[in-house]
Amino acid sequence: MAQRTPTTNELISAATIARRVVELGQEIDGRLPPGPLSVVGVLRGAFIFMADLVRAIPRTMTCDFLGVRSYGDATVSSGVVEITSDLSAPIAGRHVLLVEDIVDTGLTLRYLLDLLAARGPASIHTCALMSKPTPGQPAMKIDFVGFEAPDAFVVGYGLDAAQLYRNLPYIAALEPE
Ligand code: IMP
Ligand code: MG
Repeated sequence: MAQRTPTTNELISAATIARRVVELGQEIDGRLPPGPLSVVGVLRGAFIFMADLVRAIPRTMTCDFLGVRSYGDATVSSGVVEITSDLSAPIAGRHVLLVEDIVDTGLTLRYLLDLLAARGPASIHTCALMSKPTPGQPAMKIDFVGFEAPDAFVVGYGLDAAQLYRNLPYIAALEPE
């Protein structure tokens, strides 16, 4: 199937993303406790964001990843979080920065925070590229947010719809079929 590129639906340009990611890196460096970091990216959606973000944080750090599936290929939350691959190194005693692509209901982030907190890190902070205000859900506290998401399913810059569009350099709204 050819990739339909929703160019007309660009919401956030590559240049705007780049500027915000540099700001986020500075905010994170300014607010996290001193010392080396364990940056943990949530696969697969955070891989592009994290690649840019870590280059904007001037700290000694290790990078690790958690594989998580919360939606399958649907665009509505299944409410089920499944770990598909675990960290490759322990985080006990480390300052952890958990990096997510987008927070919707907060289910995924809540689950991952509890999972990582049980492993005895020195601190855990959360960073999401985007945050979607979901009506009726208690707001999940996220320490660092790149952008407030619009009321749409968004793709690009790592975010997918059924595994497509991750490679778009900008963030776009997916057109309904
Ligand atoms: P939550 O558990 O409801 O917060 O959902 C979080 C996960 O759902 C994210 O890590 C994304 O993988 C996915 N997700 C939620 N909204 C969107 C969207 O608009 N575009 C792409 N993925 C999304
Ligand atoms: Mg996804």
